[in-house]
Amino acid sequence: MKSVAVLKKPKMITGVNSFECSFDAKSINESFARLLVSAFVSQLDPTVADMTDLKTAVSEAVTNCIVHAYRDREKYKNARVYLSGVYFPDGTVSITVKDKGCGIDDIKQAMEPLYTTSPSDERSGMGFTVIAGLSDKLKVSSDVGKGTTVTIEKKVFGG
Ligand SMILES: Nc1ncnc2c1ncn2[C@@H]1O[C@H](COP(=O)(O)OP(=O)(O)O)[C@@H](O)[C@H]1O
Ligand SMILES: [Mg+2]
Repeated sequence: MKSVAVLKKPKMITGVNSFECSFDAKSINESFARLLVSAFVSQLDPTVADMTDLKTAVSEAVTNCIVHAYRDREKYKNARVYLSGVYFPDGTVSITVKDKGCGIDDIKQAMEPLYTTSPSDERSGMGFTVIAGLSDKLKVSSDVGKGTTVTIEKKVFGG
């Protein structure tokens, strides 16, 4: 008896999809955030390069929440990172990383290459530069004393 099986790759994306979560601002959760983003974005069947870019960009933003936003651990007892994402039928992925920490008073300066407020911690000051280079769009908004929101956008298919 002859049998044939044909595996057809299912068309993954049917519309808008989104997720939202929060986790403790601990460095152990940097890899957790990367995993969450890859699980979400893999639904779009991205290239390995696009997936890596997004994970790296998100990771930099999450690290910033942990090391900068909640630097004063005494003050921020319940330090949490808020991660959310959405993708659209045109292949655009938007990931938002938010904290309720100290905020940034001069965003323009903070985004300059090599600028860091923690040189002693061996920070390179290249986080925002890396994120900008790996994404199509980077938006940073911040309120001193209230927190910072970073939105990273990247198109993973459709040009
Ligand atoms: N979420 C944040 N909350 C408060 N300050 C931040 C945050 N993200 C970035 N910053 C500020 O912007 C600076 C530059 O960030 P970045 O480019 O990632 O470099 P680095 O993390 O190496 O210092 C940081 O040194 C810090 O002062
Ligand atoms: Mg950084």
